[in-house]
Amino acid sequence: MSADDLRKEAASIAHAAKRLIERERARGGGELLAAGVAKARESARASARAKGIVLPPAPSAPQREPVAQPTTLEVAAPVVAPAAPVAPAAPPAAPPAGGMPDFVANSPAFKPPAPQPEPKVAPDFVLPPFTEDLNPSALGGSRDAIVAASLPVLADVAAQANACEKCGLCRTHTKAVPGVGSARSGIVFVGEAPGADEDLRGEPFVGRAGELLTKMIEGMHQRALIPGVKLDRDEVYIVNVLKCRPPDNRNPLPHEIEACSPYVLRQLEALQPRVICCLGKFAAELLLGMKGTISSMRGKTYRWKGAKLVVTYHPAYCLRSPSAKRPVWDDLQRLAQEYLTD
Ligand code: URA
Repeated sequence: MSADDLRKEAASIAHAAKRLIERERARGGGELLAAGVAKARESARASARAKGIVLPPAPSAPQREPVAQPTTLEVAAPVVAPAAPVAPAAPPAAPPAGGMPDFVANSPAFKPPAPQPEPKVAPDFVLPPFTEDLNPSALGGSRDAIVAASLPVLADVAAQANACEKCGLCRTHTKAVPGVGSARSGIVFVGEAPGADEDLRGEPFVGRAGELLTKMIEGMHQRALIPGVKLDRDEVYIVNVLKCRPPDNRNPLPHEIEACSPYVLRQLEALQPRVICCLGKFAAELLLGMKGTISSMRGKTYRWKGAKLVVTYHPAYCLRSPSAKRPVWDDLQRLAQEYLTD
């Protein structure tokens, strides 16, 4: 084998090993694997040296990012078996301007909800390989093409949702609620299902929980969590797992989620978000393909296709338990940090 072939082979092994370590690290086994690969690499270099061939310096092994950066990347598998648990990530950095935004300012100290039985995880679940690059941010204006391409798809999904009779909720709803906003910022908030106000207006998050979500988005803007990217309801996209209101605001039923989820998945594919914020359990479970409580799923960063994904409490929960607003603010800071880093 020529020195050139040897170099190419070494580069290809290094690349494959790096991807493997990244995936293993997300599942908690990265350190062991990295040590094994480093050992193998050193022995390959020694054998090349013995043949008088000098290999280029080895690429530095993927490191855990600095503690201030939320790091854990989890490959999310939409609508499949539960994902493996991931290591807790470091808390996000403090907001640039200091202090809390209005929506959290007077919240009492947060007490995590009482622990609940751990959900069952399918033993044979295998994380799919993470292959997609992170979608572009709005910094630099590189999302114009995504915005343009998303419009006909979003219009088509809205037309289909408005005419949909698949799960039967159309028999009790007033209006379907397809979604609102734009792909421009690259940020999508995914909620649960329309409530009474949304059902009347055909727009998501316009009731009390919606007012709080709007304040959360404005809080992110006021604190310049993503400097240079405008954050308001028109610039982000806001959408729900279900397009129609369940009677009496009951939880979505499995067959309703199954019938309706293709709409939100198609919207997400068209929006190509850089970051997704799951508001509550139903959005998180759908996009992560796992069962869990919000307290077990939040505080980590996952992947959904080309987007990073974080989970937080639903604004309606914050209205019932105002102390949850602080962890929500932490989660929004994590979202912003992930937006700003590749
Ligand atoms: N709750 C949701 O999950 N979605 C809405 O649109 C309103 C309240």
